[in-house]
Amino acid sequence: MAKGNHSNKHAIRNSKTQEKSAADLSPTMADEADKFDCYLQSVQEPEHEVDMFNLVYNEINGRKPLTLREDFCGTFAVCCDWVKSDKNRRAWAVDLSDETLQWGKDHNLGKLKPAVAERVEVLRQDVREGNTPPVDILAAQNFSFWCFKTRTELLDYFRKARANLADDGLMIMDMMGGQDCYDTDLVDKRTIVKGKNGFKYHWEQAYFNPVNADVSFYIHFKFGDGSKLKRAFEYHWRFWTIPEVRELLLEAGFSEALVYWDEEEDEDKDAKWVTTEEMRNDASWICYIVARK
Ligand SMILES: C[S@@+](CC[C@H](N)C(=O)[O-])C[C@H]1O[C@@H](n2cnc3c(N)ncnc32)[C@H](O)[C@@H]1O
Repeated sequence: MAKGNHSNKHAIRNSKTQEKSAADLSPTMADEADKFDCYLQSVQEPEHEVDMFNLVYNEINGRKPLTLREDFCGTFAVCCDWVKSDKNRRAWAVDLSDETLQWGKDHNLGKLKPAVAERVEVLRQDVREGNTPPVDILAAQNFSFWCFKTRTELLDYFRKARANLADDGLMIMDMMGGQDCYDTDLVDKRTIVKGKNGFKYHWEQAYFNPVNADVSFYIHFKFGDGSKLKRAFEYHWRFWTIPEVRELLLEAGFSEALVYWDEEEDEDKDAKWVTTEEMRNDASWICYIVARK
């Protein structure tokens, strides 16, 4: 009896341990999340990029652009939207990361009809390599060229990017700034989708060195059950300024480097991109630099 009791207790204790382990082992929302999907939902608006490229190219060249090279393309969502937007459009997607490109092939390219998907060519290579025909637009989005930390490196990239453009081609890149962007220990939090499957996007500005303008940024995702994907993406860049980038573009041989700013102050309304040489000193801003070959 005593023995039985003891073994019963033991059995009960064992089953509790098993229950606890099973709970411990059951996957959290973070375990089940796809970091590339979270990134796409929180950071990218590919259709807006395509609209912006159309607007600027048409304003400068008076026609519709047909070819796009997307440097630092990641999962090349912009290339996919580009070819979807016109049956005569082609795109070249360039990135170094096998994992990221594969996700793009499986998810973004995989969603397109075969006849559309075949107009995207994916190249796993350094952006400083050529291998693409001269294009109407070469885009380098989400501040990715900030990975080049010296004037020499950035100038070299701009020269090579220019060589990849058609004679009336445009290089388009985004920039951010404003005093808030230099704050460290600052986490900008946004809720992406409300409800059961919602998650939070955290942009952390972790480090800034005023001596050489080195910065470290992290993207974390936080889920409804409290679990997190910490440092899902991390960037160690130089914080370039608009005048530095414009000067280097001209030095690289571009004939003009224009700044396009969103004139619309109401965030709920569509952006109104205008070229400008002077703008209000917003605490944080994003703009585009458009360089004409
Ligand atoms: C900030 S992500 C940008 C992804 C995408 N362009 C977007 O708008 O979200 C930077 C990407 O650049 C790629 N990358 C970094 N250095 C590179 C290089 N020298 N050549 C090609 N790709 C590079 C990384 O693999 C990464 O996918």
